[in-house]
Amino acid sequence: MASNQDQQSPKSHRFDLIILGASGFTGKYVVKEALKFLNNPSSPLKSIALAGRNPTKLTQTLQWAARPNPRPSLPILTADTADPSSLRALCAQTSLILNCVGPFRLHGEPVVAACADTGCDYLDICGEPEFMERMEANYHDRAVETGSLVVSACGFDSVPAELGFMFNSRQWVNPAVPNRVEAFVSLESERRIVGNFATYESAILGIANAHKLQELRRSRPRRAKPVVPGPPPSKGETIENQKKLGLWAVKLPSADSIVVRRTLSVLTENPHGLPGLNEHAEMIEKREAFWSSVKPAHFGVKIGSKSLLGIFRIITVGIFIGLFGSFNLGRRLLLNFPSVFSLGWFREKGPSEEEVKSASFKMWFVGHGFSNESLASQRNTKPDTEIVTRVMGPEVGYLTTSIILIQCALVLLSRRNDLPKGGAYPPGIIFGPTDLQERLQQNGISFDIISKSSISS
Ligand SMILES: NC(=O)c1ccc[n+]([C@@H]2O[C@H](COP(=O)([O-])OP(=O)(O)OC[C@H]3O[C@@H](n4cnc5c(N)ncnc54)[C@H](OP(=O)(O)O)[C@@H]3O)[C@@H](O)[C@H]2O)c1
Repeated sequence: MASNQDQQSPKSHRFDLIILGASGFTGKYVVKEALKFLNNPSSPLKSIALAGRNPTKLTQTLQWAARPNPRPSLPILTADTADPSSLRALCAQTSLILNCVGPFRLHGEPVVAACADTGCDYLDICGEPEFMERMEANYHDRAVETGSLVVSACGFDSVPAELGFMFNSRQWVNPAVPNRVEAFVSLESERRIVGNFATYESAILGIANAHKLQELRRSRPRRAKPVVPGPPPSKGETIENQKKLGLWAVKLPSADSIVVRRTLSVLTENPHGLPGLNEHAEMIEKREAFWSSVKPAHFGVKIGSKSLLGIFRIITVGIFIGLFGSFNLGRRLLLNFPSVFSLGWFREKGPSEEEVKSASFKMWFVGHGFSNESLASQRNTKPDTEIVTRVMGPEVGYLTTSIILIQCALVLLSRRNDLPKGGAYPPGIIFGPTDLQERLQQNGISFDIISKSSISS
C-alpha cells in the first residue's frame, strides 16, 4: 500500500502551485518561504509559478526572494482578478492557487469562483470573516461538485488560533473537560511593530461592512452549536489584568474566534471530521481518534500588552477605526493617514526588513474547565481546573503567515487523498488531523504546555 508521503495529487498539472499576488508585501515573503521547499528531495513541491498583473514587479520579487542566491527561472504568469479568463487560465495550469491578493472583500471572489468552477484547490491568507462566510455560502456546493478545496485564513489569521485551541482542548484528558479557552495574543519586538497598509485597509473595510455579515448570517440556515459542559462564562472585565502572564488585555475583534467557532460547528455536524477523498483505513482511524480527543469549549481572543499604557493605545486605535470607519469621509481620512490613525502601527510602505526580523508573537491559551465532567452539570458550579498552553513564533504578518501558508500547501500537495474531495471550509477542520502542527514546529512555530493546575472558586 502506498504511504501518505507517496500519494500523488489526483490531478496532474504543469505547476504544483501558483502564487497569485506574489509581488505584494506578503506575497514576496510567501515566495521566499516557498523557495526553501522547491525541489528539496523530501518535499512534494517540484514546480511553482508566480502570477500577478505586473511581470516586472514579479521578476523583482523573485530576485528579492532568492537572495543571496541568483534568481531562479520560475515562470511568471500575467493575471488580473478583474479578468476572469486570466484566472481560469491559471487554474488550467495548476492544482493549487495560493491567493495573496487582498483586501479579499475587493479582489477575492473572482479567484474563488474560478477555482470552484474548475476544481482547482485554493488557499488564502484572508482575515476577513464576511468574505470567508460569503464564499462558503456562494461556492461551497459548486466546490464539492468539482472537487475544489477552498480554505481561507491559512495565515496568522487564523491557524495559530485554530491549532492552538485544539492543542489546549486535547490536554483535557477524560474525565476532565474544558469549559472555556481564552487566547491572549502578545506582539513583541526590539524595534517597532508595524503592519502593511492592505491589512489596515482590510480591517477598515470589515468595520464599514459589519452589517453585511449579520445580513448574510440571517439569510443562511443556522449552524450547529457544540454542546459545552458547564455554564457559559461571564463576560468579565473590559480590561483584564492577567497577572500570571504579565499582561493587560482587551478583546480583539479579529477573525480568530469566528473561524474557530466555524470549525467547531462543522465538527458538531460531522463528529468524526470530514472524510478524505481516498483515505486508507489507517488514516480514517487516525482522523476519528484525533477528533474524538478535541473537546469543544467557549473561545475568545484578547490582545495583550505588558503595560496599561499599551492597552490604552490599542483602545484608542480601535475607537478611531470604529468611529471613522462607519462613514465615507471618516474612511477616507483613515485610509489617507494610516500612520496617524493607527498611532504608527500601520504604514503605507509596510515594515522594514529589520522590523520584520526583530518581531515575534506569543499566543497564550488559558483553558478553564472541570476535573470531572460530572461536576459541570451541578448547580452553581465553577471550573476547578486551569490548563495554560502557548503558541509562539516569529513576526506575525509576513513570517508566520508565510510559514503557515506554505506548510498548508505542502500538506495539501502530499496528502490530497486524505483531505475532503472539495468544499469551502475553515483551516482547522481540514488541517487539524494532519501533520500541520508538527510541520509548523519544525519551521519555528512552537506549541507548549505551560501549566496544569487546580483553581479554587
Ligand atoms: N492572515 C494574515 O494574518 C495576513 C497577514 C498578512 C496579510 N494578510 C492579508 O493579505 C492581503 C495582502 O496584503 P499585502 O500587505 O501583501 O498587500 P499588498 O502589498 O497591497 O499586495 C497586494 C497584492 O495584490 C496584487 N493585486 C492587487 N490588485 C490586483 C488585481 N486586480 N489583480 C491581480 N493582483 C492584484 C498586487 O499586485 P501589484 O504588485 O500589481 O500591485 C499585490 O501583489 C491583505 O488582505 C491582508 O490583510 C493577511
